[in-house]
Amino acid sequence: MSLGESERIIPKHIGIIMDGNGRWAKLRGLPRSAGHRAGAVTFKEITRYANKIGVKCLTVYAFSSENWRRPEKEVKYIMSLFKSYLKDAVNYADENIKTRFIGDRSVLDKDLQDLMEYNENLSKDATGMVLNIAINYGGRQEILRAAERVLEKGLSLTEENLTANMDTENFSEVDLIIRPSGEERISNFLLWQSAYAELVFSDILWPDFKPEDLDAAIDEFSRRNRRFGGV
Ligand code: IPE
Ligand code: IPE
Ligand code: MG
Repeated sequence: MSLGESERIIPKHIGIIMDGNGRWAKLRGLPRSAGHRAGAVTFKEITRYANKIGVKCLTVYAFSSENWRRPEKEVKYIMSLFKSYLKDAVNYADENIKTRFIGDRSVLDKDLQDLMEYNENLSKDATGMVLNIAINYGGRQEILRAAERVLEKGLSLTEENLTANMDTENFSEVDLIIRPSGEERISNFLLWQSAYAELVFSDILWPDFKPEDLDAAIDEFSRRNRRFGGV
């Protein structure tokens, strides 16, 4: 049953593990690349929708630091999809979405890095939703990066300092993490930020994920009783 407008709590920061592209393709007798292509279409639709309903920050897991273990051909295809998305992104400038990238970009192709920077600059003054795209991202690696930044600045290693130096900057708490595809694990996503996140899993494969499914996850989130260790 869906909740009425008044009962609905829109999470400030939502994280999505965009999983199930390969299985979606396999079910249709298609190559995995077709699943990734379809997943990219879903990503655009869900991003627009999240902005429309007033989510302040959306972090999407696009490529993990462990995904390099995949066949080279698949990795190359995924990287080429990022490039074409980022080249097109100029057309989404009117959406007022502020795009940022999290993860270690230093090992990515130079032209991909340039496109990432270009998109961040292009949207830096946007006042709508912050969209964090996680590429070559791992939660453990991010914690280490933050610790290095803290020490480099000569600060002491406190929760506060670490939080302020994470890749996610001002959105250091994630309220809701959604993982479609039937897997029920975090796979190294937002480890630090998810300490008190609500987790919603669904069997839908990412390319089939629709705005209604985001609504359903938000309804589920709204019904949860978040206690943060209190009573
Ligand atoms: C998620 O879909 C996309 C990436 C990890 C890049 P998968 O490719 O993991 O799809 P499944 O899990 O094999 O179905
Ligand atoms: C998590 O999905 C990473 C992304 C969606 C980018 P995986 O498909 O890589 O996760 P595992 O291997 O099933 O844990
Ligand atoms: Mg997967």
